[in-house]
Amino acid sequence: MNQSTSGTIVHIAGPVVMAKGLTGVSIYDVVYVGHLQLVGEVIRLAGNLATIQVYEDTGGLRVGEPVASSGGPFVVELGPGLLGSIFDGVQRPLPVLREQQGDFIARGGTTLALDRQKVWEFEPRVRVGDYVSGGSLLGVIQETPNLEHRVLVPPEVRGVVKEIRGGHYTVEQTIAMLDIESSSNHTEEGWNGRNQVEANVTSGNRPPNQDIVRRNNALSQQNSLVALTLMQRWPTRQPRPYVHKLDPNEPLITGQRIIDAFYPIPKGGTAIIPGGFGTGKTVLEQTFAKWADADIIVYVGCGERGNEMTDVLEEFPKLEDPHTGGLLMDRTILIANTSNMPVAAREASIYTGVTIAEYFRDMGYDVALMADSTSRWGEALREVSGRLEEMPGEEGYPAYLLSRLADFYERGGRVNCTGGNNDIGSVTLIGAVSPQGGDFSEPMTQNSLRVTGAFWGLDTDLARRRHFPAINWITSYSLYKLDNWFNQQVAEDWAVQSQQARALLQRERELEEIVQLVGADALAETEKADLAVGRILREDFLQQAAFGDDTFCPPAKTYWMLKVILTFYDGVTTALQQAVPLERVLVPELLDQVARMREWPPDAASDRAHELLTQIETRFQEI
Ligand SMILES: Nc1ncnc2c1ncn2[C@@H]1O[C@H](COP(=O)(O)OP(=O)(O)O)[C@@H](O)[C@H]1O
Ligand SMILES: [Mg+2]
Repeated sequence: MNQSTSGTIVHIAGPVVMAKGLTGVSIYDVVYVGHLQLVGEVIRLAGNLATIQVYEDTGGLRVGEPVASSGGPFVVELGPGLLGSIFDGVQRPLPVLREQQGDFIARGGTTLALDRQKVWEFEPRVRVGDYVSGGSLLGVIQETPNLEHRVLVPPEVRGVVKEIRGGHYTVEQTIAMLDIESSSNHTEEGWNGRNQVEANVTSGNRPPNQDIVRRNNALSQQNSLVALTLMQRWPTRQPRPYVHKLDPNEPLITGQRIIDAFYPIPKGGTAIIPGGFGTGKTVLEQTFAKWADADIIVYVGCGERGNEMTDVLEEFPKLEDPHTGGLLMDRTILIANTSNMPVAAREASIYTGVTIAEYFRDMGYDVALMADSTSRWGEALREVSGRLEEMPGEEGYPAYLLSRLADFYERGGRVNCTGGNNDIGSVTLIGAVSPQGGDFSEPMTQNSLRVTGAFWGLDTDLARRRHFPAINWITSYSLYKLDNWFNQQVAEDWAVQSQQARALLQRERELEEIVQLVGADALAETEKADLAVGRILREDFLQQAAFGDDTFCPPAKTYWMLKVILTFYDGVTTALQQAVPLERVLVPELLDQVARMREWPPDAASDRAHELLTQIETRFQEI
């Protein structure tokens, strides 16, 4: 432990507090501020003066009150019991806090993240005498009906198993003893293969702080023996290690047609959803949380509207998981900043969320993290930076905004996990951005798009016209190359169709501009046909209500819907070439059926599409 003394508050400015006499602390160490012991983090050290950002309301705090060091950085608790939890930004379980303190959460509460009483049934997967290292599978717990919690050796720990027993344990009881000394003998006896792996382990761009890890994970270290429990701890600002990053080449299926077909995101990819107020960011993030084909969902919410987070907290626990029929919360972790929590906590919640995501990734799972909205985090950075009187960058945001965002999105990815099992896991990061007035030229949007791979821009105009999801199909993009996967897994002309549809929509946009300038009469018949089919694409394919049966469209159905529209377009073009007037080819009963494709039950999509395709063909032959 650090030799630290307690300090005294000398200055208070909103969430930022200065203390003197706080020796032996490092940057990002957690401190307890004032008589209430508010949780804070040291963000600057200069001489005898420590600057602290406080994660709780500093109202009533007085100069002269004490500040005590916790002796280390902010760490999260990782272990069974995370699934289904609802935490605040510093990982205090909200339901427990509420129970203790009522609806208005008092300050300075120090509630433990993981339940200390709950007993888990642990089934070992290694034997005495086995060599294990950080990330190795020690055993499993069936945490929820559909999810096996894989209990792994904490990063940076390795040794030979001296003791391990199956049975019922709380998160604090010892499940295994490792002999860390005999592991060095193993090294000499030819564990070079493993050492190779370990040597390549990356921990983001910072070297892992071994002291912290040992301090947090070795409960009792006697001589060369280390006791392991079901729980480990990890400093949130430090990425958890992996062997190396892999090319993300498998899509995260969102079930949103415009995303999967046009601008897909891979498992391990990063994306932003910028959009003005009311354009559908929250609805979209929540739709992903419910439907995306990830094993685990981490939802970080910073309520933008008064009771938005309260709604989430009440609604989510009741929702069914559409993929398993079980409870959605069984694969979900919620991190909530209600609007009465101070700004600095928003930053903590982002790091808490991504660290939990990495923990499940390390087990070989596909994790998706939704952050709604990252702009609230940006505002926190701006406010704290302002209080620190730092040299402001663009629009008052700190100059390090880009590097903060880059560090966060860098923690996404598809990786080869440590532990030598060749497991692959992923963290997908999807951040909403809420620029004032929907103006995407502002720093949060611009800096975020520089460090992410997909951009789903929400359009105020579309939202006003109730075109949902209001994703602008012209300005959005995805830098990920997933055509091969879709061509192989869904249909070989998936990418070709997607390309054709986007070209048609682009053409529609150009023609619309012409119409606005010179009127529709100036258009040729073929151009009118392009406009008509562009409209079909928009209304019958891109539009997708977040509520009701069309919420989730599996890729096969998405494919068949496009196939019908593009086949119809081919028929129209051919007919026009034979001088058939456009009114005759836009057959109302066909258009009507096209408009109702979204109602097809997903399982029947292929059959229904074949029926409709035959009808279209016969009809055009008649014409
Ligand atoms: N995909 C959608 N389907 C249907 N309605 C939507 C959809 N997206 C947004 N809406 C409507 O727009 C409203 C505002 O959406 P919301 O996600 O809260 O906006 P934001 O988070 O961008 O401020 C919702 O309450 C809903 O009525
Ligand atoms: Mg919102």
